[in-house]
Amino acid sequence: MRITPSILNADLSRLSDEIARIPSSDMVHLDVMDGHFVPNLTFGIAVVESVRSSTSLELDAHLMIEDPDLWAPRYAEHVDSVTFHVEAARNPKQILQEIRERGSRAAFALKPGTSIESCADLVPLADMVLIMTVEPGFGGQGFMHEMMSKVRRTRELIGDDKNIALQVDGGISIDTIAQAAEAGADTFVAGSAVFKAADPNDMVRLLREKALTKSGRL
Ligand code: DX5
Ligand code: ZN
Repeated sequence: MRITPSILNADLSRLSDEIARIPSSDMVHLDVMDGHFVPNLTFGIAVVESVRSSTSLELDAHLMIEDPDLWAPRYAEHVDSVTFHVEAARNPKQILQEIRERGSRAAFALKPGTSIESCADLVPLADMVLIMTVEPGFGGQGFMHEMMSKVRRTRELIGDDKNIALQVDGGISIDTIAQAAEAGADTFVAGSAVFKAADPNDMVRLLREKALTKSGRL
């Protein structure tokens, strides 16, 4: 069970201090938005590079951008895992391969309206599959319970292959993480739940504990 806090709702003017508050995170989730693929704009490769130099934690870049065919391999040079959206990709198989060639783990993400069946052939080629549990673009939205059937179906496709992680992102909190874990997720992005907590690192621990209990693996 991996907890990957999103810094989207952290204080972006003091990013390295904010990341220092979550030392027990499994990865730090960086939401890259371009104002085109999603109606919000965050930061790009320059900020990702400086985050790289300010922490030894693993970095998980979630690219909500157009033209991942061009950009995803470039991010792969700076982070440990790169996730691109299939909806924006021209050649997703090639992107997965190019990300790996640049030394990063490779993942693809699905918006709520995209079925896993439409990209089932990509699953065995990826290190992680991300099922969005909100419409990408903003932190602090409500968890979409109706995505759990997609998480279940994705878990069926992955089986118990430990080399392919199943991540959920959006609205994950102490109240919703159990459902996602029960459906088969093993990697959880949590933005506002972590950074709005009085003790973010303790919230990371609590979320992991809750996920482990509900998955029956504790
Ligand atoms: C949404 C982003 C998420 C978001 C999660 O587009 O991809 O990573 O920051 O934030 P919460 O946990 O607040 O929904
Ligand atoms: Zn994200």
